[in-house]
Amino acid sequence: MKEITIAIDGYAGCGKSSTAQAVAACLGYIYIDSGAMYRAVTLYLLRAGIDYAEETPALLSAVAGLEIDFVRPEGSARPLTRLNGEIVEEAIRTPEVSAAVSPVARHGGIRRKVVAQQQEMGRRGGVVMDGRDIGTVVFPEAELKVFMQADMAVRAERRRAELLGRGIDEPLEAVMHNLAERDHIDSTRAVSPLRQAADAVVVDTTHLSFDQQVEEVCKLARRRIAAQASAS
Ligand code: DC
Repeated sequence: MKEITIAIDGYAGCGKSSTAQAVAACLGYIYIDSGAMYRAVTLYLLRAGIDYAEETPALLSAVAGLEIDFVRPEGSARPLTRLNGEIVEEAIRTPEVSAAVSPVARHGGIRRKVVAQQQEMGRRGGVVMDGRDIGTVVFPEAELKVFMQADMAVRAERRRAELLGRGIDEPLEAVMHNLAERDHIDSTRAVSPLRQAADAVVVDTTHLSFDQQVEEVCKLARRRIAAQASAS
């Protein structure tokens, strides 16, 4: 049966990554966290002390040779992000990286590099990718596009709980501020702003449990896969 491409976009903290990962596991597809790639670029720039306020030739040449990929440990559904061969999965999820990632991801030259790699990774289909521009720019031909949303209060509570689970005790106010700030930058930037694709299905997770949101997207996916099969 033909494997489709599933694009999941939406605002920060509405459960895209965890949902996309579970949907990929239930379909036997590959999961790609596009935000992790922008986070890895950001981590590199912060560690190297490189100014990212403007898109300068120095900034672009600093990121040109970066190698970002994912490793999938045996028996684990969770891919780990690698930067130049180092596993940085925890390091890219700190409040410091979260605060800097949207200003970094605004730059067209950085996006071109990351998007080209994402398109290559998803070339054969059988992929669930989540992000901000997946259904609009990375895979505009995706067979299923989902636009996830949830109320800010719910998103902030969920993100705070997730950070606490990793030993990071960030005040709710600060979490909310970061989500709102990123949403603003991500949806107002000049290059590939966060937009709901015209053909995306909206899934509001405000009142859904995690299992319910996964089931909702899996149901949509199974319908698209069946529709593809009967059309071919
Ligand atoms: O999915 P995330 O919250 O980890 O993504 C971190 C940031 O990366 C997000 O605030 C904006 C940027 N991003 C992007 O610009 N385009 C994507 N496809 C994914 C993420």
